[in-house]
Amino acid sequence: MKIWYGVLLLLFFTLAACGGGDATDNSATAAPAAQTPEEKMLAEGKGIGEVKFVELKTPLEAERVSRGKAIYDMKCAACHKLDDKRVVGPGWKGVTKTRKPEWVMNMVTNVEIMLEKDEEAQKLLQLCLTRMPNQNVSLGDARDVLEFMRSNDGEK
Ligand code: HEC
Repeated sequence: MKIWYGVLLLLFFTLAACGGGDATDNSATAAPAAQTPEEKMLAEGKGIGEVKFVELKTPLEAERVSRGKAIYDMKCAACHKLDDKRVVGPGWKGVTKTRKPEWVMNMVTNVEIMLEKDEEAQKLLQLCLTRMPNQNVSLGDARDVLEFMRSNDGEK
């Protein structure tokens, strides 16, 4: 009788051990798939910051373009030219073709974190060797500048 009891116990523990093994397997496969929303944005080339989605309209919004131009003249022109020549920062020609609109707006409104976490921003820093200063550009102003950049890239 005692032996049978022992066999049953052994069987029980073996099964329990198998069950435990399955459970750890599941969590091991689930872990790498979990990407934080932040990592997802970075991976999609949208940068990092408040701007998750930008709706672009065609034709361009003329009022935004002229407000964007005024902001450019006042706050950006000292470091950015409108052609492809680098001064302090890169020239803006083609920037709306190579970057997503979300990336551009996050770069303008969240530059410190972008330089810390976004690879493309870091490459620019290596190239320019100067950190773009945070200029307290509001989201609305950044959106206007983006529209001006689209116009600078020949969009109608
Ligand atoms: C003091 C100089 C300076 C000023 C002023 C400045 N920037 Fe910059 N900007 C830079 C530098 C330098 C970089 C490259 C990244 C770095 O090194 O920090 C850059 C990068 C950028 C980029 C990315 C360009 C690319 O090729 O992807 C955008 C977009 C940008 N700036 C927008 C703006 C806007 C909009 C303004 C005005 C509101 C502005 N910057 C004002 C220096 C400046």
